[in-house]
Amino acid sequence: MQNDIKEVLISREQIQDKIVELGQILSKEYEGRNPLVICILKGAFIFMADLVKEITVPLELDFMAVSSYGASTKSSGVVKIIKDLDTSVEGRDVLIVEDIIDSGLTLSYLIDVLQRRNAKSTTIVTLFDKPARRTVDLQADYTGFVLPDEFVVGYGLDYAEKYRNLPYIGILKPEIYTS
Ligand code: XMP
Ligand code: MG
Repeated sequence: MQNDIKEVLISREQIQDKIVELGQILSKEYEGRNPLVICILKGAFIFMADLVKEITVPLELDFMAVSSYGASTKSSGVVKIIKDLDTSVEGRDVLIVEDIIDSGLTLSYLIDVLQRRNAKSTTIVTLFDKPARRTVDLQADYTGFVLPDEFVVGYGLDYAEKYRNLPYIGILKPEIYTS
């Protein structure tokens, strides 16, 4: 698996330090409140697990799965809810935890859904952002790292469902896409 990686972009330690920092900021932001933290599956599962351990206010968790890239590295442009929330967001302070923002389509669609369901507030925290690829006007409230326009894997992110368990963020060797 490690042999398929051309370059490590962000190390395990850098990611861990950043998550501690984000946890402190979010603990302050939500002081005295009880946010509903939503993990966007599957990519955000590791980030979510590490982040909530750094948040000191009481919170609740839920999970949502949306259609993404399938086995390709380009977005289909179509967003579909594959697994919906178990919890009502009505009147809740919702914190959306995302792995990476690319075109911005997924999150602009989800924000719209959550607002129509009468969430009290919607806040986005993303570990990674590729702003160069944005096609809609969408910004995260909190971002871990800004990345170049490269397809990345690891720390929850996959290529054809593989590499999610790498503890760092890396770029695949080009021959992996073509083989
Ligand atoms: P949009 O375009 O809607 O996409 O902002 C967000 C989703 O696209 C996936 N994505 C990636 N997955 N490496 C991946 O493994 C990447 O470089 C990458 N870029 C976008 C991701 O699932 C995210 O939720
Ligand atoms: Mg994904």
